[in-house]
Amino acid sequence: MRMYDLIEKKKQGEALTKEEISFMIGGYVNGEIPDYQMSAMLMAICFKGMETQELTNLTLTMAHSGDMVDLSPIHGIKVDKHSTGGVGDKTTLVVAPTVAACGVKVAKMSGRGLGHTGGTVDKLESIPGFVTALDEEAFFEAVNKIGVSVIGQTGNLAPADKKLYALRDTTATVKSVPLIAASIMSKKLAAGSDCILLDVTTGSGAFIKDFEEAVILAQTMVNIGEGAGRRTVALITNMDTPLGSAIGNISEVKEVVELLKGDGPEDLKTVCLHLAANMLYLAEKGTMEECMTQVKNTLESGASYQKFLELVETQRGDSSYIEDTEKFEKAEFHYDVKAPAAGYITHMNTEQCGIASVVLGAGRETKESEIDFTAGIQIHKKTGDYVTKDDIIATLYSSSDVGFPTAADMLARAYEIGNEKPEEEKLILARVTKDGVERF
Ligand code: URA
Repeated sequence: MRMYDLIEKKKQGEALTKEEISFMIGGYVNGEIPDYQMSAMLMAICFKGMETQELTNLTLTMAHSGDMVDLSPIHGIKVDKHSTGGVGDKTTLVVAPTVAACGVKVAKMSGRGLGHTGGTVDKLESIPGFVTALDEEAFFEAVNKIGVSVIGQTGNLAPADKKLYALRDTTATVKSVPLIAASIMSKKLAAGSDCILLDVTTGSGAFIKDFEEAVILAQTMVNIGEGAGRRTVALITNMDTPLGSAIGNISEVKEVVELLKGDGPEDLKTVCLHLAANMLYLAEKGTMEECMTQVKNTLESGASYQKFLELVETQRGDSSYIEDTEKFEKAEFHYDVKAPAAGYITHMNTEQCGIASVVLGAGRETKESEIDFTAGIQIHKKTGDYVTKDDIIATLYSSSDVGFPTAADMLARAYEIGNEKPEEEKLILARVTKDGVERF
């Protein structure tokens, strides 16, 4: 078999066989197939797509390229969650302890920031002492003891995805439904949970900006999950504005603590409640309505907050920072971004807000970059708000002021101001199960 012939075949729009996919992924992981041939294949997939069986074969081959985690030492049903990425998306920090406090196990492997989107592991590591690199034994022990653990992906989880993702990031081949679906589902299948809840974001801050395309991505991933014997549901959520008001690691943890203590932004709360309720539903804890009541009561009673404290302590974080968030290190510099004119904010380019936060140091410009945990953006005004000229719409934070001119310019351009108040958008746009699509 020759990679050249497989590229030619995909270029003609034909489906690759299971054996061909095995040859291609195996050869790429062990270094026999070079990056330039794989890049050509990825680009051909972007243009020609993949058939259902072909994509299932690709996903399973990628999942089996490394360890398949066996979660059986953890008792009970395990539910996982994955977001396709967002700006200010700190939902895992609320949802994981809430679901655990409702009695469902969450053994979660999370990622770091990617492009303009933030990552759960980076946010958790901004809590002094918090360890995200537990070995398997400690991970299982934590979940058995307190019901939840959130760690970074172990070294050998879907190594094919790790290598392919880095290549896609530099060859403009990230935004492809089959490639995103295979990337996410290979990791989720390898991570071993019984049920998977997918948060498929759409809008200006998401990788897939178009709603109908997000529905196709959700359906594709649900089919792969169900086909592999995992109960899988996807929610399509709105990422047209940043979620909550905080972007950046320490500030997002602080916002999470506010929410867990009964305050915090309504949009974040709504999305978290829906995600958590769907996870309980997947674990067969009742009807959707009953699950929603359970998660609301759990969050409002303070039980989610207590579980978050336990999570932090179990992973050796200093929980006194959670009890008193004023203890967190503060950014040395800040800069207020002002409204250039009066009017309603009609739209936000949320991807640009995310990129501005990376410029300030909240994310990585290159794989080697160190994150500045104090860096980020506090959003004061969002789509639908009325501003007068020179109102402060956002404040930038960083331990260095060098990024302020670029980030402030990006942020000011990310806001569109007009005369008409835009219609309020829904936060939960659709729910996709194996039985179909429910649009809200
Ligand atoms: N998140 C992933 O893990 N993979 C993708 O391809 C896109 C988002």
